[in-house]
Amino acid sequence: AAEFDKAALEEPQPTLGKSGKVDYTGCQVWKVSTAKAGAKAVINKLSSDKLIASWGGSESSIDVLIKPKVIENVTTVLKSKDIPYSIMIEDLQQRINEENPPLDENEIELQDRRGHRMTWKQYHRVEDIHGFMDYLAETYPSIISVNTIGKSHEGRDLKVLRISDGKSTNKAVFIDGGIHAREWISPAVVTYLINQFAENFDVETDDIKNIDWYFLPVVNPDGYEYTHNTDRMWRKNRKRYGIGFCYGTDLNRNFGYHWGGKGASSYPCSEIYRGEAAFSEPESKAISNFFATTATKFTAYLTYHSYGQYLLYPWGYDNTLPPDYKELQSVGEEIAESIRKAGGSEYTVGSSSGLLYSAAGGSDDWAKSLGIKYTYTIELSDTGRHGFVLPASYIKPVAKENLAGLRVLAQKVNEA
Ligand code: ARG
Ligand code: ZN
Repeated sequence: AAEFDKAALEEPQPTLGKSGKVDYTGCQVWKVSTAKAGAKAVINKLSSDKLIASWGGSESSIDVLIKPKVIENVTTVLKSKDIPYSIMIEDLQQRINEENPPLDENEIELQDRRGHRMTWKQYHRVEDIHGFMDYLAETYPSIISVNTIGKSHEGRDLKVLRISDGKSTNKAVFIDGGIHAREWISPAVVTYLINQFAENFDVETDDIKNIDWYFLPVVNPDGYEYTHNTDRMWRKNRKRYGIGFCYGTDLNRNFGYHWGGKGASSYPCSEIYRGEAAFSEPESKAISNFFATTATKFTAYLTYHSYGQYLLYPWGYDNTLPPDYKELQSVGEEIAESIRKAGGSEYTVGSSSGLLYSAAGGSDDWAKSLGIKYTYTIELSDTGRHGFVLPASYIKPVAKENLAGLRVLAQKVNEA
């Protein structure tokens, strides 16, 4: 039986502004301290009353989105309980408007000459990302192939690009991005990594050339497109629950290892809805099928998310650790160190549930359960100044420092 009230499924859909998009004018994002005893309970209550929506948090604070109508109300509650907070974003819509400025004329001209439209100066639509992948496969057929491993709920391709020189002694690494629709920096970074290896493969290091690389930059293309054309803050996929009003499953709660455990919701309107069953969603199912049918043995699985600057290893379903956690911690620290040296960003390393919170059904836990040794969820920049709405000018610096981190991982994979 359903554990939720059916009437609660009849949530009003967001009202769309003149642009046909959800309007975030006057919405604010606050960093609320959770240091004080009882603060978490107050925040949970505000959250279940739908006065605030969580954007994520650390050990000592949580970032929350607040609609203009309830700002006064929330202020009163936090002040009366003596819970400190600071305003990170005064007007979310303004930040959204400035996040992804159009390319200048020179760049547009270049784009038309290059054979693909991808740049790392802008966040691109799925069409540009997939066009870029197809272009690489056509241009470098001896090392690159693109394989559609399934279709999204709305029928978009789930494209995996493989880079390999075909040596039988190679190791293999799988990298994905865009599980969560609004985390735009993730597909941008994954495509940057693809471009780096594809365009420079012959002069790449042996560590890179001795690996068969598999990249799925947009796991959730329907959600990603929806964040571009309708609601910038959408997280889930776009499959509707029954004939109700609520859409979307959190794909990172839908994987089949301890599915339905802690930190996942059975309520279809929730941002962390787990889906009707493990792998009930075509996007997660396609990944599961891919791993079930491939003969390739993977040594690492990386999944890029944002934000918070964390390198997380399993387990996420509960506060318990895999037998090789010490190695995952020390390799994580080496990766973090190389990121810091390359670009200056500080990444915190730890297990998902130890460092953040328990959340069952994540892709990382499932990959680890398959026996893939180096399994990490990488929460990219930043730590909350911009949150999900990270300006496009950050794409290159974030990608570059993470390329340095990936080189350390490649070395460990070769040694494994
Ligand atoms: N921010 C990510 C999420 O909530 C963290 C996932 C970590 N992995 C896990 N299995 N809980 O989906
Ligand atoms: Zn995410």
